[in-house]
Amino acid sequence: MATADEQAGTPDSTAVRVALWRAMHVLVDPPPHVFVDEIGLQLAAPDEGWRDRPDMDPTGTSGFRAAIVARARFIEDLVAEQAGRGVVQYVVLGAGLDTFAQRRTEIAARMRVFEVDQPSPQAWKRQRLTDVGFGVPEWLRMVPVDFEANESWSERLVAAGFDPGRPAVVVSTGVTMYLTKGATAATLRQLAGLAPGSTLAMTFLLPTDLVDVADRAGLQVSENGARASGTPFVSFYTPQEMLALARDSGFDSPRHVSGASLAERYFADRTDGLRPSSGEDLLVATI
Ligand SMILES: C[S@@+](CC[C@H](N)C(=O)[O-])C[C@H]1O[C@@H](n2cnc3c(N)ncnc32)[C@H](O)[C@@H]1O
Repeated sequence: MATADEQAGTPDSTAVRVALWRAMHVLVDPPPHVFVDEIGLQLAAPDEGWRDRPDMDPTGTSGFRAAIVARARFIEDLVAEQAGRGVVQYVVLGAGLDTFAQRRTEIAARMRVFEVDQPSPQAWKRQRLTDVGFGVPEWLRMVPVDFEANESWSERLVAAGFDPGRPAVVVSTGVTMYLTKGATAATLRQLAGLAPGSTLAMTFLLPTDLVDVADRAGLQVSENGARASGTPFVSFYTPQEMLALARDSGFDSPRHVSGASLAERYFADRTDGLRPSSGEDLLVATI
């Protein structure tokens, strides 16, 4: 039975923070914007002074803001490409305030989008989607799951309408650092059983010694902040470790995509000096 908290729902502060960074990008960085998402801000509905929060400082946290929009853009380019190839199932693990389903309806409405997240923040998001007038369309399925609960969440996905016999694009951004390595390994094992033609993209945090020296102090501040808000970073991976985990979980040819390569892809031509900080890389795997 759902607890009272799960029924009422409370936002996840980490999901709100990244949604606010995506909004800040549009508000404080000059065009062209790498990613445009102001719906997350609408859903989050922060207090009036939110832009004065230390973690929103336009200059001091610009690297994080840029890294968040870089990964969001990479994921959305990947999903659009997969949808173009006829993939019609999109699974967002630890969806938070992801707003693909609201912003990209021309693609999303032709797919089935499964948002997987912790029960309480998901209940809150569902309510906010209704409050601001989006609602939850038939093709958007919200699947409450706790990845640490040691259960087969893929069964819940199927119960929500996921067809395991058809390919899917599955993404997880900004989640593995909050999970134990055991929970991520269990998640990867369930994903390795996806139908051929499926694609996975998952971000992970690098250990400090692999982060650019210039970015280490900022990362420490963010790590301290995460711990203080009750959502500590518990897992860091070297790219080799993440690739080995993926192989051991059943993926044949996992690839490492560095944050630096996203910086090169999406920020090289900018003249405002905005560049993503280093520290978060991606695992990309096809089945
Ligand atoms: C930093 S947010 C990222 C949200 C979204 N993926 C994005 O990039 O905007 C982390 C997300 O992981 C989810 N999460 C953390 N621990 C989880 C768990 N044990 N089970 C399911 N979701 C979890 C949180 O609820 C939150 O939505």
